Amino acid sequence: MVVTIEDVLTDEELAAIRGQLSGAVWAEGVSAGPQALLAKHNQQLPEDSGILRDLRILVMRALNRSSLLMTAALPFKILPPNFNRYTGATNRYGLHTDSTLRPLPDGSYLRTDISATLFLSEPDEYDGGELSIEDTYGRHRVKLNAGSLVVYPSGSIHEVTPVTRGERLACYMFMQSLVKDQESRRHLFEMDMALVALRERYGDDDPQLIRLTGLYNNLLRRWSEC
Ligand code: NI
Repeated sequence: MVVTIEDVLTDEELAAIRGQLSGAVWAEGVSAGPQALLAKHNQQLPEDSGILRDLRILVMRALNRSSLLMTAALPFKILPPNFNRYTGATNRYGLHTDSTLRPLPDGSYLRTDISATLFLSEPDEYDGGELSIEDTYGRHRVKLNAGSLVVYPSGSIHEVTPVTRGERLACYMFMQSLVKDQESRRHLFEMDMALVALRERYGDDDPQLIRLTGLYNNLLRRWSEC
């Protein structure tokens, strides 16, 4: 399931992040596993970058505000976000899947169920640079407005096509979902979206809606792991 979420960042947050990144020192991306590393030709903000901590707090605060992200991803753990840049000779990330287990700062591991890209450059600032994702419903080509987010299964084959003009800035992160199975996650998402629409039509106190909401919660109880 590929879900796009518009305007995750406010204009002020986007301007603050871009302001910080404009003076940043970038390094060749090194965070991928051995196979993905062969395909990876971009730049990344290094872990010892002085601005990384503030940027991460800003992005995490914005993610936590998004009810659509919460229902689509049902996140249990989120790896601290990283930032990357595609430009010049380091302008692409060929076909790969994201590695399954990522170490967390506390020494435990995160299973990557969901990958997310937060676009930080406007689409007219660069040519190419589409995030192309293959899932069971075909190929999705994604290029969003700055401040908008896409989430997709980490196990899907995906790539960032070469940036042939300008610079593409993005933030990316990995999430472990409360619900590991992506089909179960999709059922819950579709059910929750339908419930939101029905609540608007019939009100929160409709007895059948109370039953259906209970059913959603019981399925989440049955399928979630934490
Ligand atoms: Ni990837």
